Amino acid sequence: MRKNIVAGNWKMNMNLQEGLALATALNEALKGITVHCDVVIGTPFIHLASVSNSIDTTKIGVSAQNCADKVSGAYTGEVSAGMIASTGAKYVILGHSERRAYYHETPAMLKEKVIQALASNLTPIFCIGEVLEERESEKHFEVVKSQIETSLFELSTEDFSKLVLAYEPVWAIGTGKTATAAQAQEMHAFIRQTIAEKYGNEIANDTSILYGGSCNASNAKELFSNSDVDGGLIGGASLGVDKFMPIIEAF
Ligand code: PGA
Repeated sequence: MRKNIVAGNWKMNMNLQEGLALATALNEALKGITVHCDVVIGTPFIHLASVSNSIDTTKIGVSAQNCADKVSGAYTGEVSAGMIASTGAKYVILGHSERRAYYHETPAMLKEKVIQALASNLTPIFCIGEVLEERESEKHFEVVKSQIETSLFELSTEDFSKLVLAYEPVWAIGTGKTATAAQAQEMHAFIRQTIAEKYGNEIANDTSILYGGSCNASNAKELFSNSDVDGGLIGGASLGVDKFMPIIEAF
C-alpha cells in the first residue's frame, strides 16, 4: 500500500546552524509521538551530512533538492546522487518547477537525474505541475501527462515503483493561492490513471502522489482527506516546527 508522506522543501533558506537547529527541533517534537505519515526534510546540499548525523533518520528522512544528471567527473559545481546518498540522505526532489524555470532543466535532463538517483538508491520525489496560463487554457492535464511521459515512462516497472510524485501547480507555489481540494483530487486521480495506463493498477495504487503549493496548517487536513492525495510537499510552511508539525499531524 502507498505511504502518506509530508516532505519539507527548505529551498535556499537557512544557513547550516539555522538548518541544524530546525532539524533537531523537529526531531525533538517527533520524539515519543505517533504520526501517521512518513516525514521528510529537503535541505540544501551542504546541510545533508550534518542534519543526517543530528537526527533520528528512521523517523525523519533527509532529502536533497536536486542532483547531477551524470555519475561523476569534470562537472564543476555539480553534486552527484552517489554523494548525496553517502551523507545518509534517502530522497532527492527532482523536477521542481523552480529548477525547470530558473535553471532550464529539461525533461531529458530530468530523465537522466531520475536514473542517477535510482542507481544510488535514492527515492526521487518527482515534481510536475502546470503554470497558470496552461490551466486557464485548459491544457493542465495534457501538460502534466507530458511531464510524466517524457521523464519517467521509459523506466522499468520496478524502477517506476520506487518513485514518489508531487503535483505542484506552479500558480500555487509560494503564492498563498492553494489549489482547492477538488482541483487537487481531480489532478491526482488523473495522474494515477495515467500511471495505471502505462504500468497497471497495482503500481498506480501503490504510488504516493503528494500535493504542493501553499499547503499549510489550515488547509492540509482538507487536501489530505482526498483519496488520491497522499501527503504534501511543503515549502514556506516547512521552515518552522510550529508550522510544519500541524501539517504532519493533519494525518
Ligand atoms: P510553498 O512551496 O509551500 O511555499 O508554496 C512548495 C514547493 O515549492 O515545494
